[in-house]
Amino acid sequence: MGSLEGSLEGRTAIVTGAGSYAGQGAAEARLLAEHGAAVVVADLPGSEGERVAAELARPGRFVPLDVTDEAAWDALAENVLAAYGRIDVLVNNAGVWLDEGLTGTSPEQYRRVVEINQTGVYLGMRAVVPAMRAAGGGSIVNTCSTAGLKGGGMPFAYAASKWAVRGMTRAAAHEHAGDGIRVNAICPGVIDTPMIEGGAENRARLAGFIPSGRLGTPEEVAELVLFLAGDGSRYITGAEIAIDAAVTA
Ligand SMILES: NC(=O)c1ccc[n+]([C@@H]2O[C@H](COP(=O)([O-])OP(=O)(O)OC[C@H]3O[C@@H](n4cnc5c(N)ncnc54)[C@H](O)[C@@H]3O)[C@@H](O)[C@H]2O)c1
Repeated sequence: MGSLEGSLEGRTAIVTGAGSYAGQGAAEARLLAEHGAAVVVADLPGSEGERVAAELARPGRFVPLDVTDEAAWDALAENVLAAYGRIDVLVNNAGVWLDEGLTGTSPEQYRRVVEINQTGVYLGMRAVVPAMRAAGGGSIVNTCSTAGLKGGGMPFAYAASKWAVRGMTRAAAHEHAGDGIRVNAICPGVIDTPMIEGGAENRARLAGFIPSGRLGTPEEVAELVLFLAGDGSRYITGAEIAIDAAVTA
């Protein structure tokens, strides 16, 4: 551990979509716990969330959550407050990929991607902001993508949903800066997780488009989330930070 060791001591963090064992959310949950946070692993029932939570460095818990379910979000916030008394960090990480262009995307598919990637982020912020405001602050990290930084070459609904995450991040950051709540977006490039389809062959193909010549790891993204969650980033809010090895440079 580096200079940020213990930086989240006594704090509580919720990470959505953290039930994918080899995904970014699980890596983020692990690193936040290593740095002292009590972490709530929130993901769909049937995900690997129990296993992720059981292995955390600090006691955490798995809470089943569909990020599109408003009532489930409200119950989660209530439960976390009852159990820990505070919500310091929310990482909106849950997301789905749809590799389709405009005409190949059905209205039903479009709505599903937007409902999870976009509305889910809104509902998460909506659920935790009152508690953060009452406590004098907090840090929200929204997972965008390089698909939220450009349109060219990106799947249609996925890009639309991620651009919306950027807009929500800026609007919420501006609105709640005076409450001590920071809201930032991370924009990962190609990260080696179960979301990347097609096995080794596709990974090698994708690496060919990346200036550094390799995919990123979930652990590398987790380092950025840790920084944004903790006080080292206290003057950063409303930002969108690419973590893409110069793909969008
Ligand atoms: N892997 C990449 O290259 C990449 C690049 C940029 C951005 N992202 C984003 O990073 C985030 C994490 O993705 P990942 O790469 O770790 O993929 P992943 O598929 O490993 O993890 C995604 C997780 O989201 C969960 N999820 C999906 N729908 C949900 C819902 N309705 N409610 C709760 N949880 C739900 C899944 O169960 C899964 O655990 C996503 O928002 C994704 O769009 C990924």
